[in-house]
Amino acid sequence: MPSIRFIQADGSSRELNTPDGTSVMQAAMGAGLQGIVAECGGSAMCATCHVYVDEAWADRLPAALANELEMLECTASERLPTSRLSCQIKMSAALDGIVLRLPATQQ
Ligand code: FES
Repeated sequence: MPSIRFIQADGSSRELNTPDGTSVMQAAMGAGLQGIVAECGGSAMCATCHVYVDEAWADRLPAALANELEMLECTASERLPTSRLSCQIKMSAALDGIVLRLPATQQ
């Protein structure tokens, strides 16, 4: 199963393994990870699943669709060039080991 490394705003980190096809948000919520709220349940309608993708991984993700880009305008923490909605990142073997930083706040 591909792994995801989450780095919290305080620098602590946690690694999760999740089946192919699971979204990063689903993996985080299933593990009770702090820092992802996911109010809308994964519909790209809330921006409370915001993550910063490590620069080494950012180009390996499919481009964000229009609805994701629109919602990224509404993040509680600063939007950066590598900002994505974790509910829109589907895990696969190609993303094994991806590193994601969590913003200081989601709301
Ligand atoms: S869970 Fe709401 S936008 Fe991702």
